[in-house]
Amino acid sequence: MRILVTGGAGFIGSNFVRLILRNHPDDEVVNFDALTYAGNIENLADLKDNPRHTFVHGDIASTRDVARVFRGQGIDAVVNFAAESHVDRSLHMGPRVFIRTNILGTQILLDAARKHRVQRFLQVSTDEVYGSLGPTGAFTEATPLQPNNPYSATKAGADFMVRAAHHSHGLNAVITRCSNNFGPYQFPEKLIPLMIANALADKPLPVYGDGLHVRDWIYVEDHCSGIDVVLRKGVAGEVYNLGGNYDVPNIQIVKGILKLLGKPDSLITYVKDRPGHDRRYAMDNTRARTELGWQPAHPFDDALRETVNWYVAHQTWWQRIVSGEYRKAYDQMYGWRDKE
Ligand code: NAD
Ligand code: TYD
Repeated sequence: MRILVTGGAGFIGSNFVRLILRNHPDDEVVNFDALTYAGNIENLADLKDNPRHTFVHGDIASTRDVARVFRGQGIDAVVNFAAESHVDRSLHMGPRVFIRTNILGTQILLDAARKHRVQRFLQVSTDEVYGSLGPTGAFTEATPLQPNNPYSATKAGADFMVRAAHHSHGLNAVITRCSNNFGPYQFPEKLIPLMIANALADKPLPVYGDGLHVRDWIYVEDHCSGIDVVLRKGVAGEVYNLGGNYDVPNIQIVKGILKLLGKPDSLITYVKDRPGHDRRYAMDNTRARTELGWQPAHPFDDALRETVNWYVAHQTWWQRIVSGEYRKAYDQMYGWRDKE
């Protein structure tokens, strides 16, 4: 299978590309990414000479770029990770770029997938489209979509366009909705890598509000294995919830990181809450487990320890992000191609 992976230079996408190349020796990946602030070609450094991996620099919200990547590539399946993914940015920098990439970009990909008779389209979505839970219960695939922030609203918009492409035009499309990921290559704007980076630098750890907001954490490898299973076995038109069954308050995660690093709790600083901050997410992943035989394989404590160790061992990786140096890496690795 020749898979077009969009957003494959980001956190989850780069882990997914590696999983496909490792587990499916007959598969090839065309990795299409705009290299926004969140895309980092250094995440793919070890794949540069892999003949089954081709990197194409382009924007999913550009019909021209999308037409170029589909033309002559023989794409069998699309897995759409490309997105503006950070809630705080959608709140503080405005939703425009989120609407452009997450909704318009998804629609442009859907149109191209139809035109090129792609056999499978997988939309990578999020638990945040369901909104916020009370103290009990979990989101199922039947939970109504009630997104509460501009990021999740645009992801919900994309989900509806995918649903419509399947329903109206018969596109073979599936949607995965996953809970909060963590693991190697996560951009240090998100909770876990930000807290690790700050703790290592003995800087304050900014916890929003009372720190009792609950997220359901999943190791990135488990999310990627879930996407892989849904891609191959999911029923067209269906949605599959993926989650790690590990829903805990943020403060517990932050304290766990400090403990692993041998740093004091006094680094924790409670700061002004995020506006409209969703109180609790928890995923019911029964459908993916019972119908597709998927299940998360990494216990949280082991995966968090591995993740913390990865950030300790890869300080140059995230320090180049913090300093902005990583943005020059594309020119060094691939820039010659654009000049031809
Ligand atoms: P990320 O921000 O780390 O990566 C996003 C990637 O998309 C980057 O490489 C970026 O350059 C690329 N991109 C952005 N706009 C683009 C455009 N217009 N055209 C082409 N490429 C573009 O995000 P992530 O955390 O890896 O998330 C990937 C996907 O998974 C997103 O769709 C997100 O909504 C979804 N998701 C994330 C989580 C999570 O916890 N991180 C959980 C559930 C679902
Ligand atoms: P985040 O990693 O931004 O993911 P999401 O908003 O998609 O769930 O945030 C995870 C949780 O951590 C969320 O409840 C907000 C909280 N948070 C903080 O308390 N401090 C921070 O600096 C960040 C980035 C997040």
